[in-house]
Amino acid sequence: MSVVYDFKENIKKDELEKISKTLNNGGIVVFPTETVYGIGADATNSNAVKKIFDAKGRPQDNPLIVHISNLEMIEEYTYGVNAVEKKLIENFWPGPLTIILKSKNKLSNYVTAGLDTVGVRMPDNDIALNIIEASKKPIAAPSANVSGKPSGTKLSDIFEELNNKVDVFVDGGNTIIGIESTVVKVEKNVVNILRPGKISLEDIEKIGLKAKLDKHIFKDVKEGEKVESPGMKHRHYAPTTKAILVDFDDDKTMLNKIKEYKLNSNEKIGIICYKEHEEYLNSIGLKTIVMGKRDDLSEISRNIFSLIRSIDNYKLDVCFIEGVKRQYIGTAIMNRLIRACGYNIL
Ligand code: TXA
Ligand code: MG
Repeated sequence: MSVVYDFKENIKKDELEKISKTLNNGGIVVFPTETVYGIGADATNSNAVKKIFDAKGRPQDNPLIVHISNLEMIEEYTYGVNAVEKKLIENFWPGPLTIILKSKNKLSNYVTAGLDTVGVRMPDNDIALNIIEASKKPIAAPSANVSGKPSGTKLSDIFEELNNKVDVFVDGGNTIIGIESTVVKVEKNVVNILRPGKISLEDIEKIGLKAKLDKHIFKDVKEGEKVESPGMKHRHYAPTTKAILVDFDDDKTMLNKIKEYKLNSNEKIGIICYKEHEEYLNSIGLKTIVMGKRDDLSEISRNIFSLIRSIDNYKLDVCFIEGVKRQYIGTAIMNRLIRACGYNIL
């Protein structure tokens, strides 16, 4: 049985010590960050890191993010940062931004999946920072979920699928942001966004840097196509129920498209929708699951993974998900929704 420590109210010192011992002895620990929960192991210990891949059923070509609690760890495990990377760090760390850096080869090969780079981030969460600091090790941690499922944003969503596969669960309540960190790689002084997140293209431009979205953010990867980040290739976030994204548009256009589909179908249809659309969609016979208010992208990002996880419980033939505007964190939400819907767009 996995052990559960409750840190929702406060971080308990004796339990923190047990967690750091577990990590130093090659164990694996589920812990909260500000984005999503992670499954962590000592990034320098291959036996430990291997256990993460086994617990998640993760393809071994997909490298893990290394979490640090102080900047000295950058010097120790990477060849350092250039001026652009330094500016990103000064502005956004601790926070939901992962930077791909040249790795010094002191980390387990499982972490880097054999690449010469490593994704590094300093999370903005006291529990996570205390765990890293106490273990005195860089902590490799992918999102806490079985591979293919949405990342866990609260313990109850992931407990069953990971119970007995990890040594410890640390409960920190619901995560604040709800979707994973922005992953960037700086090339020729341009910040290439490989995975969008809370730190948006607009946020990066606002601090005076050049940024661009990788071409695969909204597009499927074709067989054999070269990608900047292995995670882009893998199926992710999808429920078993068929899901269809309703592309973002004005209210009338979105609702009309849904109504038309409903009129021509005898399927049992559900929809993850804006609060503002709930009443109307109910009135035309859809099962509604509210994601938040149309303009409250923070609320939507906080809720979305848990809602996608819940879709299968409703025994629907098809579930629509309403899209959001592709700006700020909306770009990240749409990146996840398009994948959750297997690129099916209405
Ligand atoms: O918010 C987050 O980033 C969460 C929390 C736990 O920190 N972690 C997370 O890790 O989402 P994971 O493993 O689920 O996603 C890591 C992503 C993958 O898409 C992977 O392909 C990419 O980062 N990645 C990691 N190292 C890379 C590298 N060296 N080059 C390119 N992409 C890399
Ligand atoms: Mg993941």
